[in-house]
Amino acid sequence: MRPQMILAGNWKMNGLTADLEEVTRLAATTAEMAGEVGIVICPPATLLSRVSDVLKPAGMASGGQNCHIAVKGAHTGDISAQMLKDAGATYVIIGHSERRTDHGETDGRVRTKAELTMSEGLVPIICVGETLKERENGVAITVVEHQLTGSVPAADKGADIVIAYEPVWAIGTGRVPTNQDIADMHKAIRTWLEAHYGSKGSDIAILYGGSLKPDNADEILAVENVNGGLVGGASLKAEDFSKIIAAGQRVQTIRRAAAT
Ligand code: 13P
Repeated sequence: MRPQMILAGNWKMNGLTADLEEVTRLAATTAEMAGEVGIVICPPATLLSRVSDVLKPAGMASGGQNCHIAVKGAHTGDISAQMLKDAGATYVIIGHSERRTDHGETDGRVRTKAELTMSEGLVPIICVGETLKERENGVAITVVEHQLTGSVPAADKGADIVIAYEPVWAIGTGRVPTNQDIADMHKAIRTWLEAHYGSKGSDIAILYGGSLKPDNADEILAVENVNGGLVGGASLKAEDFSKIIAAGQRVQTIRRAAAT
């Protein structure tokens, strides 16, 4: 079973060899938390194997940011799920809104990629989220349910997936939904997952992403049905990301105590 609190950093198209220092620093400062919360970095593919080499011994994981729809073949410039796994990845982000927008990724392609990554033994982090217009029009939950219906693999493929709810308008903007809006959306996603997977849907981690920062992490991660975060800008510096990880650990400790 996946950890019940996962903090994943999405470096997007950022990171050069010099930035590996941040990974080393992160591994050193957060190593004692690694058992209790899942710590993941998804660097650009060029750094994946080197990041994996640093994180694995520290009990942390790495992930890819995308993969091709095919297993292998004549697809110049693309990368397969098997290659990500070979480079040390445990996770793959699939269907990020930047890929949906920049590369026209449809729900159907997202689902195919997610199924492929699962068959390669990787865990897909499937991203969903509404635009500002959809939020303002009051259809955010309907839009996300529709994305889940189109993007999540069939239940017979297994339930070893992670969902990331990332409102498009919150990404890189410094704006975040209210805690109530996050709670309502995560509850709707949980309900959808339980309808799709049965009781296994209760254990699937649902991450929040979009302007998650050290100063709002305690509050957002404590919202019901929030099981971690997918962090962009604030994951690039070990100092910031380790504060978000520490917030996740605090929330996890409180939840554990409440459950006993
Ligand atoms: P920011 O944390 O920079 O808003 O990015 C969120 C995101 O897109 C993570 O996948």
